[in-house]
Amino acid sequence: MYKYTDEQLASMKKVEATRKERLEKLFGRMTADEKQAVLKENHPDYIDSAYEELKVGPNKGGKVLHELADLLQGKSRVIGMDIDLSKPDYDVDVLVIGGGGAGSSAAIEADNKGAKVMMVTKLRIGDANTMMAEGGIQAADKPNDSPAIHYLDAFGGGHFAAKHELLYKLVNDAPDCIKWLNELGVMFDKDKDGTMITTHGGGTSRKRMHACKDYSGAEIMRTLRDEVLNRGIPVVDFTAAIELIKDTEGKCAGAVLMNMETKEISIAKAKTVVIATGGAGRLHYQGFPTSNHYGATADGLVLGYRAGAKLLYADTLQYHPTGVAEPTQIYGALVTEKVRSLGAQLVNKNGEAFVYSLETRDVTASSIIRECKRRDNGVKTTDGEGVWLDTPMIDIIGGEGTIEKRIPAMLRMFGKYGIDIRKDPILVYPTLHYQNGGLDISADGMSTTVPNLFVAGEAVGGIHGRNRLMGNSLLDIIVFGRNAGKSAGEKCKSVEVKDLTLAHVEDFAKELDGAGLKPEKLSPQLLPNYTKQPAI
Ligand code: FUM
Repeated sequence: MYKYTDEQLASMKKVEATRKERLEKLFGRMTADEKQAVLKENHPDYIDSAYEELKVGPNKGGKVLHELADLLQGKSRVIGMDIDLSKPDYDVDVLVIGGGGAGSSAAIEADNKGAKVMMVTKLRIGDANTMMAEGGIQAADKPNDSPAIHYLDAFGGGHFAAKHELLYKLVNDAPDCIKWLNELGVMFDKDKDGTMITTHGGGTSRKRMHACKDYSGAEIMRTLRDEVLNRGIPVVDFTAAIELIKDTEGKCAGAVLMNMETKEISIAKAKTVVIATGGAGRLHYQGFPTSNHYGATADGLVLGYRAGAKLLYADTLQYHPTGVAEPTQIYGALVTEKVRSLGAQLVNKNGEAFVYSLETRDVTASSIIRECKRRDNGVKTTDGEGVWLDTPMIDIIGGEGTIEKRIPAMLRMFGKYGIDIRKDPILVYPTLHYQNGGLDISADGMSTTVPNLFVAGEAVGGIHGRNRLMGNSLLDIIVFGRNAGKSAGEKCKSVEVKDLTLAHVEDFAKELDGAGLKPEKLSPQLLPNYTKQPAI
């Protein structure tokens, strides 16, 4: 059971005391200039000392966070191994690397194309950020909305940096993806007449967030996993891809796989490969906690980069405004934005609201950081500090029972520690949530620089620009997962794989050497290293 400190209790009283007044007069939105100012001064993306220039590879000269640079310029796990590529253990049309929502969607669509598909995942199918997603999935499928409006919201929210062809595809394919998921069996929240219930997220001008209460990702992943398994698509689990294989024409043609327990190496030959390895929260950039699943270690970026795939916006990360700040046992876990969509307000230690609740994520997170670090208005917590998220406002605004009905997972998560979010506000602080950047692709899902390598989901860069709106990630894993599966399943029909080679890995090692880098850190990292034991 969590026991609030006296200081926290005294601050909580102030939150209660100002609630009525705050309900009567909501905090106003920021101007564009105010947003820029709070971002520049507080957002972790603007901390120059956290970054370094890449010395080798397709993005040489570009800036990335130190933790990612160490991996992109790390030591390949296959260096020094005696690997025979002439007798592959698996020979497939489409190899999907990653067992989350994007990988599963890709596998299903490639299977629809008649391709021989195999999924490989370092943990189990469903151990992925998809499973952790809570608030919902955006799609402009209501009469007062359109993909064009969705585009404008997302383009503005991403600082006008999204790659046009990708964002265009995201918003235009969205309604069909909701229909697809619904028909596969996803139990979306619906009114009595069957109309989907939709809400706002930060930066949306229309209510287009479709949800399955506050475990939308788990419900979507459950459905996709069932579909993959029911179709009999082979899933090789507890097996990591540790290097991409090319053929002698420089096209992607498979992967070197490593059993996570036995370290046994196997070779998968493929006509096309889909990287769907997800995000990087478990790298804990800049010391942040994370809402991500255990395997989120940027593996796909490393594999792709070493094979010559270009990165786009790899310098920008998303810090979700509301990670759990207390109790410490769930530090960094996600408190869905839906809590704010339903009316909860962000409040400082004095009981004052300090930001409009549904500003875009980067602006909201920066405002919380400013409140704590610059204005000394944070509440001390076991791990640092935080601000209040005034959850009792939800039932006051929406009527008794709203929390129980719409965000039962939040009620349960805090309930385990004796905190009733219907009665008391909760403490939150930004948590590392999403990798805005990733591998650069064209609208067909193929890497812009490595033929026959497709990418989907969080490993892609540029769909959202330099910040993502809530609900556009569950959407992008479906849109671009399906897209990659269709493209890879079609492309493989005309591919003739030449002799397999790992020459690009040797070439990369020479490049590192030439740049004076002698990396010891093995990459991809595969798992976080919390134990301070030697990494696997
Ligand atoms: O707040 C959330 O529920 C997260 C959603 C998202 O990242 O899209």
